[in-house]
Amino acid sequence: MADPTLFSDDVDGWNTVMFLYNSALKEVNTKIEILNDEFRHVHNYNPIEYVKSRVKTPESIVKKLRRHGYDSSVANMVNHVNDIAGIRIVCSFTSDIYKLAEMIGKQNDLTVVSVKDYIRHPKQSGYKSYHMLVTVPIFMTDRVVDTKVEVQIRTIAMDFWASLEHKIYYKFEGNAPEYISHDLRECAGIVSMLDDKMLSLNEAIGKARTEQEDEAS
Ligand code: GTP
Ligand code: MG
Repeated sequence: MADPTLFSDDVDGWNTVMFLYNSALKEVNTKIEILNDEFRHVHNYNPIEYVKSRVKTPESIVKKLRRHGYDSSVANMVNHVNDIAGIRIVCSFTSDIYKLAEMIGKQNDLTVVSVKDYIRHPKQSGYKSYHMLVTVPIFMTDRVVDTKVEVQIRTIAMDFWASLEHKIYYKFEGNAPEYISHDLRECAGIVSMLDDKMLSLNEAIGKARTEQEDEAS
């Protein structure tokens, strides 16, 4: 939808790029759904708990452009804002994240532009997630446009932390007192411990079941 106040000089351009980002989200969402189905078929379980997707609001696009010193134009948003179309995949276990990332990387019609592994290298805030910037070709009547989608892959625990941290951080508009940032980092550590524990429990259960099956046969 055109936003008359923010990109009023180029409503056509705005409508076209929004069409592209919405289409790209549909394409990538379908791919993820198929990957999940295939994973269930091969490994007998669902790696994905849930998927959320969104297109960035015009206000938030303008804010980001401004933050990086760019004017609000359609060309600038396409070139400089990589997360206009965003998909968040929330998995059960950390190991699922890497399996999914690999499967996404192997999709022939997706191009992985960049990867940020904030699980191996958490942010200063304590934030953990696996980010992939991908492009997907969108076929229009007269041309094909490779369109960017930011894919964030994380566990339920990482998502829990990130959602709450985001709320708290926003209250302070980035200037949270040091003891709060410290406590949030501590919570990130607790969340990671929980993930590790759940993963090893899951592995232990898998092993115990295989042993039971071997004994029974
Ligand atoms: P943004 O301008 O925030 O999009 O950052 P960026 O373009 O440098 O990319 P980066 O990979 O650092 O972060 C992209 C997205 O990851 C953000 O829009 C958030 O959704 C999420 N993210 C990154 N860091 C944090 C963090 O410290 N806390 C939370 N809650 N989310 C974060
Ligand atoms: Mg962002």
